[in-house]
Amino acid sequence: MRQPLVAGNWKMNGSRDSINDLLDGILAGIDSVEKAEVAVCAPYVYLSQVADKLSGSAVAWGSQNVNDNESGAFTGEIAASMLKDFGCKYVIVGHSERRTIYGETDADVTRRFMATQAGGFIPILCVGELLEEREAGTTNEVVARQLDAVINEAGIAAIGNCVIAYEPVWAIGTGKVATPEQAQEVHAMIRSKLAGLDADVAAKVQILYGGSMKPDNAKELIGMEDIDGGLIGGASLKAEDFLGICTAAN
Ligand code: 13P
Repeated sequence: MRQPLVAGNWKMNGSRDSINDLLDGILAGIDSVEKAEVAVCAPYVYLSQVADKLSGSAVAWGSQNVNDNESGAFTGEIAASMLKDFGCKYVIVGHSERRTIYGETDADVTRRFMATQAGGFIPILCVGELLEEREAGTTNEVVARQLDAVINEAGIAAIGNCVIAYEPVWAIGTGKVATPEQAQEVHAMIRSKLAGLDADVAAKVQILYGGSMKPDNAKELIGMEDIDGGLIGGASLKAEDFLGICTAAN
């Protein structure tokens, strides 16, 4: 049985004060979340604050990216060794905003994925198609290509120690959520593709759905056979909404 995971991706949002309030709100309600694991992925500059606040609690935390180099002349980038100082458990890699706005390629994402694991963190590997790719009927090909890039370099065993997040780009921040059936179809494709390589890995890897997940649609989505939780953007910025999704995952 796979444990559900609900992870917040705060993206480029928050301030010292708002994060303090948000975490207070989450901690106040976390006891009602019995079965799901809960995590938040914060902007780098707030990781220290998040670590201080959440250490010893039931909530894990992580970053939203990492550079694949150990150190050196990479202005504006963050190394895995730096994340270690802040007790991160997770690192999001390959988010569609990184791929589409900042031009990260499948090869870049693969290197960052491998740096994440080498640093001792669990990558949350994001995959998903653009609207035009869905309309062209190439969703499965796109997602398979994004996965293959990582599997071909890191090996199938590495997938056994990661979380996959299927995030259809057209559903992110748009309020246009994929139907549970649409999401399940892609999740099932991912799992059966992995099963063709390693049945144990396929059975154990958590596959999250991301894209306009809210308290009122979370239960139906997470209730689908191959949907093991959510990667939450907008709704992770309000404690009540985020907790609503976490309890739905119970
Ligand atoms: P929204 O929940 O705001 O649609 O964002 C989803 C997402 O991109 C999480 O990584």
